[in-house]
Amino acid sequence: MLQKPRGTRDFLPDEMESRREVESRMRGVARSWGYREICTPEFEELDLFTIRSGEGIIQEMYVFEDKGGRKLALRPELTAPVLRMYVNEGKTLPKPLRWFYFADCFRYERPQKGRYRQFWQFGVELIGADTPIAEAEVIMLAHEILSSSGISFTLHVGHLSFMRILLKELDPFDQKRARMFLDKRDTPGLREYLSGRDHAALSDRLIALAGCRDLSQAFEITGDFPERERIEELFSILEEAGICYTLNPGIARGLDYYTGMVFEAFADNLGAENQVLGGGTYRLAHLFGGEDTPSCGFAVGFDRIMVARGERPAAPGKSAGVAFTPEGRPWALRVAGEFRKAGIRTPLDLTGKSIGQQLSGISRFAEYAIIIGGKERDSKTVTLKDLRSGIQKNLSLDDALHEVCSGDTR
Ligand code: HAM
Repeated sequence: MLQKPRGTRDFLPDEMESRREVESRMRGVARSWGYREICTPEFEELDLFTIRSGEGIIQEMYVFEDKGGRKLALRPELTAPVLRMYVNEGKTLPKPLRWFYFADCFRYERPQKGRYRQFWQFGVELIGADTPIAEAEVIMLAHEILSSSGISFTLHVGHLSFMRILLKELDPFDQKRARMFLDKRDTPGLREYLSGRDHAALSDRLIALAGCRDLSQAFEITGDFPERERIEELFSILEEAGICYTLNPGIARGLDYYTGMVFEAFADNLGAENQVLGGGTYRLAHLFGGEDTPSCGFAVGFDRIMVARGERPAAPGKSAGVAFTPEGRPWALRVAGEFRKAGIRTPLDLTGKSIGQQLSGISRFAEYAIIIGGKERDSKTVTLKDLRSGIQKNLSLDDALHEVCSGDTR
């Protein structure tokens, strides 16, 4: 028997309904903040991701050559594609641009619970705004989107300048390696690496900074630097907005394009793969042929949200199955159409068996049965059976619709 590729999943209807419910809550929140949905191609020119995404991502990419010899890659993330699209299509649009997306990404990672080779991100990009309030907006929106999903989470906010100041004494190669250890929170690895490079003292300061949770203490470790005022303003706005966050100057992020504020969120009830969101301030537009444009955004790991939520079935919609005799069929088709227009799930019986057998099939998935025979066809009425109580009534079409719409769902 053929199987799905490793690291991918199939979703049955129950799971798909729960996913759609969470997705639509996230969309609703993004829209309420003035963000509008966009869509980019599932694959892009390979160069788009090799320019600035970072080694980690490059090693995990699905790369292929098309029949025209072009080197392409399945998108491992959407920030680079969205900024490419901005440079191609959005440069003249009034700024700031507030865009969001819900799309699948592909990374060749070792699969486990919460880590897949095809996974979905719900993300936003705020393009062309460069103020602390812009960064705060993105963090506030992330907080609201995660809250809307119903999970319990912890938000960590940091700024790359803290680490950058300390890392300055290393050459670019060692800086990169040190950042990789910090991103993986591998302090023994960091210590060992830096003592091998005669920078043992630096590893103590880096580890102290990564563990620091107080803003003035963080500045004590690094000393003052020009962005201080801006960083302090950002954190004051978060406090004014009542956002619950933890300062974390140790956030390094796995992608290379970030320039300033960075943030991540962790689900409180997940183990290893508990990072459910990552984002920050970055600059990419100038690398893709546009003007240098300040941007800020984040992506939610949608699949991890679903794991953190556990099994919570979506709220069932109203449903009524249609049982009918051959004489009743023309009226049954009309009635079913009216029920569907009212937003009620209204599948037809497809077996053509006796009404009793049709009803027993319908009772497996619906709360109501609409029964249509010759009598209903002639009187233009509907026999409606509440399958929970067993009560059956002959009603006008309008009354039957009203009864189903106003009745409780299971
Ligand atoms: P990222 O941290 O690489 O950032 O990915 C964002 C989120 O996607 C992660 O926090 C995680 O929840 C989820 N994720 C990553 N890899 C996997 C996987 N293999 N399986 C399941 N979930 C996964 C970005 O992608 C940036 N583009 C975010 C961003 C937007 N920065 C600015 N704007």
